[in-house]
Amino acid sequence: MELTKECRMAEVLLSGWSEFSLSTEQFHQIVSDFMESMEAGLSGADSPLQMLPAFVGRPRGEEKGKFLSLDFGGTNVRVAKVELDGAGGVNVSRIHKVSLKNPAEGYDYTCSAAQATDLFGFLARQLSMLSEGNEIFLGHSFSFASHQSSLGQATFSGWTKEIRVSGMEDKDINGLLSEALIRQGVACIRPVAVINDTTATLLAAAYSRSEADMGSVCGTGHNTCYYEAIGQGGGVMAHNAESGGFDRLPFTIFDNQLDKDSELPGRQRLEKMVAGRYLGELTRRILWEGRDQCGFQLAEHCKALQKTDALSSVDVAVFLGDKTKDLEEIGRWMDRQAPDYRSNLPERLFVKEVSTIVVKRAASLAAATYTGFLNRMDARRQHRHVIGVNGSLYEKMPGFAEAISLQLAVNGGWGPEKVGFAVVDEAPLVGAAIAAAMATAKGTVD
Ligand code: BGC
Repeated sequence: MELTKECRMAEVLLSGWSEFSLSTEQFHQIVSDFMESMEAGLSGADSPLQMLPAFVGRPRGEEKGKFLSLDFGGTNVRVAKVELDGAGGVNVSRIHKVSLKNPAEGYDYTCSAAQATDLFGFLARQLSMLSEGNEIFLGHSFSFASHQSSLGQATFSGWTKEIRVSGMEDKDINGLLSEALIRQGVACIRPVAVINDTTATLLAAAYSRSEADMGSVCGTGHNTCYYEAIGQGGGVMAHNAESGGFDRLPFTIFDNQLDKDSELPGRQRLEKMVAGRYLGELTRRILWEGRDQCGFQLAEHCKALQKTDALSSVDVAVFLGDKTKDLEEIGRWMDRQAPDYRSNLPERLFVKEVSTIVVKRAASLAAATYTGFLNRMDARRQHRHVIGVNGSLYEKMPGFAEAISLQLAVNGGWGPEKVGFAVVDEAPLVGAAIAAAMATAKGTVD
């Protein structure tokens, strides 16, 4: 007897669940492979984890002064004035947010046709709007991998996410910025620190919380940094793991196809399973497959399900946020997307469940890597830890943050009494200013 459409949907979901949910054994395997890769990366051996030293330790919370901050996070860039009061308090003002591309105004500083000098010239123009003519130190939160040789100096190591600007190879990032500021006539703005956004998030959390020892970004991209012990005297240095590059993972056919079709095949494999940039696309691919497997007809009528990248993680957040009995919000989304089609409840449930398996797996994977960091820092589980977190996925995706905490407790053995999370307002801007304060206090700037 032919199965009904609903039964076939349930079958597809069941197989999706089994492929996308991590068993306890798989979780532990990932933790152990992750820890092994951390060790390999630190010792300079081949590893999917770059483990980049950030040349910055713990802030004392006494750092003080007025700084400018640049948050180069991706397509959107922000500049601001940040005042640190020396007692854990922070005031961020004059935030100016601008997109690196604006077709109406005829510019695009994200694509490979754009040159590094043009990009940094654009950044310098934004910063010049905040200049008051006096010398002021600047901290730069740069959300891409770079090799630091000091807190103030970092060599570019490769774009991820949506930026492809040319002419960056082996360039000193703050060197490019300083030259552009001079060209712009604002040499009084002095870039003194350049850090990854995860390091900025860690510093921002640690400024007023002594237990903070990890910083993680769960937004368009994904990555984590932590304090690695150095020497025997209790000293620590932040290390940017570039954990989005981790690749010892149980991939599904959907992950492999998404990777193959992506701009950087073979790279950033964990990021492609966890970050906001990809969760919509993964969900879309499974739903599209449902068209053949279980006659999920909506796919035929809905543009957002037919084209690569047409479904975003914001759409997925709408699906997961629908708590109505008949999934009316998902229904309205479908009505907007496919006006010629009337959806039914099993189809709406299908969309919600597929989104759930994708997002829950992302949270489990993030939790497995957090377990790896925590196990490394505190093998005997003697201390309490705080993970500073930043990013729209963590803050806005329904159920994501809760699922991370649950997985950390249940599978990782790190319950809420041992680890907490801190979302710090404006973490990249604040952390960059703290780094600038630490760089100048050290006397490393002349
Ligand atoms: C970059 C990291 C960054 C993360 C979060 C990744 O694509 O490689 O350096 O920390 O995105 O923004």
